[in-house]
Amino acid sequence: MSVLAVESLRVKLPIPGGDVTIVDGVDYDVQPGEVFGIAGESGSGKTISMLALLGLLPEHSTVEGTALFAGKELIGMPRRELRDIAGRDLAMVFQDPFTSLHPMLTVGRQLSEHVRRHLHLDRHAAEERAVELLEDVRIPDPRAALRAYPHHFSGGMRQRIAIAIALACRPKLLIADEPTTALDVTVQAGILRLLDRLRREQDLAVILITHDLGVLSSIADRVSVFYAGRVVESGARGDVLQHPRHPYTRALLDALPHPEAAKERPLVAIGGSPPTPGHIPSGCSFHTRCTHAVDSCRVDVPELRAVSDRRLACPVDPFSA
Ligand SMILES: Nc1ncnc2c1ncn2[C@@H]1O[C@H](COP(=O)(O)OP(=O)(O)OP(=O)(O)O)[C@@H](O)[C@H]1O
Ligand SMILES: [Mg+2]
Repeated sequence: MSVLAVESLRVKLPIPGGDVTIVDGVDYDVQPGEVFGIAGESGSGKTISMLALLGLLPEHSTVEGTALFAGKELIGMPRRELRDIAGRDLAMVFQDPFTSLHPMLTVGRQLSEHVRRHLHLDRHAAEERAVELLEDVRIPDPRAALRAYPHHFSGGMRQRIAIAIALACRPKLLIADEPTTALDVTVQAGILRLLDRLRREQDLAVILITHDLGVLSSIADRVSVFYAGRVVESGARGDVLQHPRHPYTRALLDALPHPEAAKERPLVAIGGSPPTPGHIPSGCSFHTRCTHAVDSCRVDVPELRAVSDRRLACPVDPFSA
């Protein structure tokens, strides 16, 4: 059974003068122990689509569709019940660990408070669990780390601590939203290896969100590519990243200085900029930047349909061979 199954997710946010659609009908599912990658340029709705599941959107936002998490519907779930699930069975880490860590509290206090609240452990048991968690994410000298404050650690170590807190209650699903974007390449690789080990050892499902397809090429099992609030291509990592079929996926890969992606091809920046909410082009929202667009692309909204080994929202399908 899927850990998470999202169908027809639509999100509208309130802006002055009306609502604006940010996520426009997104479907995906996540299996136990898998890393599910979500990629797309800045503003494509990756973060908003996750915050919608956790009930963390601004007031007066509208969320439609279904999101079954371990068999329970998250959309429309009462806030209290959702708060109980989020943080225990479903945890999230953000790009900047300072978002998840309180700067004025010791690491030990933050970890054990979380453990005590959700797992109802006494002080001693909570501290032991905190040490165990810091060992799990490979923080050197965990007992000393408990007494330190977040700013005593490097960015990579802070992100490990944020992951430790997220894992405190053995969640079934970890949503990692750009967890390595602020880190340099070697530290980034360490965090990705950590996530990879955790999913193998703890059967943890991970949604890994990034604007960098290169990050997914080392770790994701399956990949969905977002453009302007919709999925344009999804499938197994190897199929999508080595043989991209949507012109947007191909453009993202061509813009990457990554050996697996670019091979001998020169780096090519994607022309134009991503559309802003409220100004999404008609038809296929990518047509204004697409070098393969035909007349019908300006009119017809392409459906995400199954084609051989993947799902694709491009009727032109210029790279099908
Ligand atoms: N509170 C808000 N009110 C109105 N619009 C918002 C709000 N928060 C985000 N948006 C808009 O929603 C769109 C999607 O934002 P989102 O943060 O989901 O993008 P993203 O794909 O996560 O991008 P990034 O890679 O930069 O993190 C953006 O255009 C953003 O400007
Ligand atoms: Mg984001």
